Amino acid sequence: MSTTKNHVIGVVHPGLMGISVANALIEAGHRVCWCSENRSAASAQRAGDYSLHDCETLAALCNECDFIFSVCPPAEALVVARAITECSFNGVYVDCNAVSPATGKSVAQVLSASGAHYVDGGIIGPPAWSAGTTRLYLSGPRAAEVTALFEGSLMGTVSLGEAVDAASAMKMAYAGWTKGSAALLLSLFAMAEHHGLGEALKQEWALSQPGLEKRLNSIAQGNAPKAWRFIGEMQQIAATMEDAGQHPGAFESAVDVYAAMADFKSSPAHDITVEAVIRSLISTSKQSAS
Ligand SMILES: NC(=O)c1ccc[n+]([C@@H]2O[C@H](COP(=O)([O-])OP(=O)(O)OC[C@H]3O[C@@H](n4cnc5c(N)ncnc54)[C@H](OP(=O)(O)O)[C@@H]3O)[C@@H](O)[C@H]2O)c1
Repeated sequence: MSTTKNHVIGVVHPGLMGISVANALIEAGHRVCWCSENRSAASAQRAGDYSLHDCETLAALCNECDFIFSVCPPAEALVVARAITECSFNGVYVDCNAVSPATGKSVAQVLSASGAHYVDGGIIGPPAWSAGTTRLYLSGPRAAEVTALFEGSLMGTVSLGEAVDAASAMKMAYAGWTKGSAALLLSLFAMAEHHGLGEALKQEWALSQPGLEKRLNSIAQGNAPKAWRFIGEMQQIAATMEDAGQHPGAFESAVDVYAAMADFKSSPAHDITVEAVIRSLISTSKQSAS
């Protein structure tokens, strides 16, 4: 397979990150497709805004494309891979989701049934709308072909060699710190508020931990709308820790923290304040205690 321009590439599905992956591939000179079957108006709007070709069904997408990128909620990564296999896709499949190495290997195994070639991916950074912000880590025997697809685009790539699970492990290690420490900070502040000590804690932070109050505000507002998706990601990190002989407890707790915030998915941005997020953590802990 040639690794120059003009490949036909599928992105399932164009969410906030997926559409930036699609845009990077278009910038690099490829034709990018998606399928509108079962997707929301928001995905259709994004696909339309960037002129992705709508294959309408997954079967048509699999027939048309020689590469497919999976960029979906981590909890759905295996389900999406099974659906692709049922469509007899036999090109290169790049799973870009925040999943454990074990889930990645299961995806690879599922895909081998239809003769597809698995490349492990892990995205670090926000959707790639500016140069230098976002890196797609890649590993596996066919990873170099995927790296070549992004030449000249806003998406950076980093190769981690031939191992089929290295990119997923990298993503788990990175996101474990960013999202795991965020969950810990939110639940510690909720505990302080439970004791009526939120303001006193902020005053102590200002003296000895400058920047922590700013981080609390930014993670409350930034993570709350995505908390529903982080539940699956924390489960994947807990499993990765356990498989590596490390204690998964911190990430099992983070699952509960993000579950308590899951309803913010549909809240208007102006309703997502640090006070509202902390209230949701305190009221969930009261409900589970009663
Ligand atoms: N956003 C980021 O900053 C970021 C950073 C690094 C890595 N990532 C990774 O990128 C992936 C996607 O994140 P995102 O921010 O693009 O999420 P998102 O904005 O929520 O988009 C998810 C996409 O998947 C689709 N989807 C929803 N439920 C699905 C299901 N049950 N089966 C198949 N597809 C489904 C959605 O379609 P509908 O809405 O039409 O149903 C949407 O197109 C995740 O694995 C995440 O870890 C994201």
